[in-house]
Amino acid sequence: MSFIVAIDGPAGSGKGTVTKLVAEKLNFITIDTGAMYRSAALEAVRKNIAPDDNEGLKKMMDNISIELKKVDNVQKVYLNGEDVTKEIRTPLIDENSSKYSAIPYIREKITPIQRKMGENGNVIMEGRDIGTVVFPDADVKIFLDASDEEIANRRYKQDLERGMNVTYEQVLEDIKRRNKNDSNRAVAPLKKAEDAIYIDSTNLTIDEVVDKVIEIIENKMKEKNI
Ligand code: DC
Repeated sequence: MSFIVAIDGPAGSGKGTVTKLVAEKLNFITIDTGAMYRSAALEAVRKNIAPDDNEGLKKMMDNISIELKKVDNVQKVYLNGEDVTKEIRTPLIDENSSKYSAIPYIREKITPIQRKMGENGNVIMEGRDIGTVVFPDADVKIFLDASDEEIANRRYKQDLERGMNVTYEQVLEDIKRRNKNDSNRAVAPLKKAEDAIYIDSTNLTIDEVVDKVIEIIENKMKEKNI
């Protein structure tokens, strides 16, 4: 028996941080589904396989291995056995993961792996289509949102801290383009499931969001006598 929490929302809504903190407090396993699409995009970029090269992508996806593992308490991502945890978090892969994740065959291959990962234990899975496609029967569904301007603000601060040379306007434009791509694609777009609980984090701190999510999960567990 597993208890599944689905957290969906746009890039920069704070899903990753919230998922990590909630999971630590409640002792749940986390599954970052975006990391899997990022790994597929990295492989395509490395092998120079264009988004319209159906044959090439099929061959790539039929031979790919993507694993999420906790090593010394740090969440790691392995692509064909290689640790790509850092390499999948670059602006190049931000852009390409949004492109390649829209390709149906890539989703067809990755979705069943995610379902399998959610089979055992208490899991928080975060992404774009978890409550709508991957686990439409999840025990708890949350849609975490924030305004584009607030997302850009948060990302811009992070980028400056990392020493990157960007302007707020560039960051805002990137965020808008990526979230528009993710929301408008034909297959499994970013969308709130009808029965998901909507949380707008624009004016909330991370701790406030974490507390809300924990309360929702605990209430549901009580209801189910878990
Ligand atoms: O959450 P993230 O920014 O790491 O996700 C990277 C890309 O992968 C993002 O552009 C949307 C896509 N993605 C998806 O299509 N479906 C998911 N379940 C998770 C991510």
